Amino acid sequence: GQVLHVVGTRPNFVKAAPVVAALRAAGCDQALVHTGQHYDERMSDVFFRQLGLPEPDTDLGVGSGSQARQTADLLVALEAELTARAPTLILVYGDVNSTLAAALVAAKLSIPLAHVEAGLRSFDMTMPEEVNRRLVDQLADLLFATSPEAVGHLSREGVDPARVHLVGNPMIDTLLGHLDRFDPVAARAAYGLPERYGVVTLHRPANVDDPEAARAAARALTEAAAHLDLAVPLHPRSGATLRAAGLADAPGIHLLEPLGYVEFMSLVQGAAAVITDSGGVQEETTVLGVPCLTLRSTTERPVTVTHGTNRLVRHEELAPALDKVLAGTATVPAEGPPLWDGKAGPRIARVLTRWLESHG
Ligand code: UD1
Ligand code: UDP
Repeated sequence: GQVLHVVGTRPNFVKAAPVVAALRAAGCDQALVHTGQHYDERMSDVFFRQLGLPEPDTDLGVGSGSQARQTADLLVALEAELTARAPTLILVYGDVNSTLAAALVAAKLSIPLAHVEAGLRSFDMTMPEEVNRRLVDQLADLLFATSPEAVGHLSREGVDPARVHLVGNPMIDTLLGHLDRFDPVAARAAYGLPERYGVVTLHRPANVDDPEAARAAARALTEAAAHLDLAVPLHPRSGATLRAAGLADAPGIHLLEPLGYVEFMSLVQGAAAVITDSGGVQEETTVLGVPCLTLRSTTERPVTVTHGTNRLVRHEELAPALDKVLAGTATVPAEGPPLWDGKAGPRIARVLTRWLESHG
């Protein structure tokens, strides 16, 4: 039988790469559909090139839209594609709209579904991602979790424990697999940064969509930049709003286009601190031992706080929290959380090949 990966966004590509590689090594027949949710060269192609993902077998070119419009377009395009392909199993990643749409279509077509990164919960239903996660996990036949908390959430939601597999974190497979390509010194020079600098990424609707929230974010970053030069690769969602809110190429603020994976992780590895609202970046900084200040009131990845370098901060707490980080008082754990060891892809492949043997 054939395994079909459905991916659509930047974090999907980073998570799928090690699973595709492990299934290839196991001799599994597989195909990859790109929904086209992310489509700019800097949001999509660069990850396929740098992470060794195969060219998509199909690109559905769904593109952008409101939550309803985008999800509706994804559903229609995926229904036709998945009906035509009739795979044995569909693999989806994370919590984006492409993930939800593929899961819903798979369920309606009675195609078995596996969810990579199952069970994460922020308990904040105003986040589109939280809605997506909860629904996908109700539909999945196989659920791959990155941490024990996630397994606990699934069990409390009534998911059959036989479906759940604690396998570790494929995003960290990608990180550890490319570590020797990161070059912080060259990256710092390429973007004109001083020896000590920070990296910022912001793209959550709660931080950037509403003009008042964007102004608060711009103010907090401008204040922080008085203490530390900041490299700010801007997600296309937030470029215009953050600029309109007053974030400018002022002294200490280096506004950049979205970066390729190797360039981005090189900057992160060499950073004195990271300021973010990204899910993946909280995990990557945990493993690299780089202090991370997360501009959110909740996280679906609490292990990055309890075991790692992450701290949740409000906008007005950012500058003082950064001062503390720069004073070097925080301690950095010697190793990442259990099973964040670069072998999640092979663990997932083992479960899937066993499943395929018994299901055809
Ligand atoms: C999506 C995910 C989010 C994830 C993020 C990763 C959902 C609900 N959200 O958010 O969970 O953290 O991806 O980066 O699925 N745009 C471009 N070029 C592109 C892609 C997007 O210009 O290649 C612009 C468009 O104006 C678009 C906006 O960015 O309307 C938002 O894109 P969208 O895919 O809807 O959501 P993200 O904010 O990227
Ligand atoms: N990333 C990148 N370049 C950037 C920003 C992010 O390569 O300019 C990578 C990084 O590895 C990150 C991943 O893309 O973990 C996913 O990023 P994003 O923050 O967009 O998604 P989230 O994890 O919040 O869903």
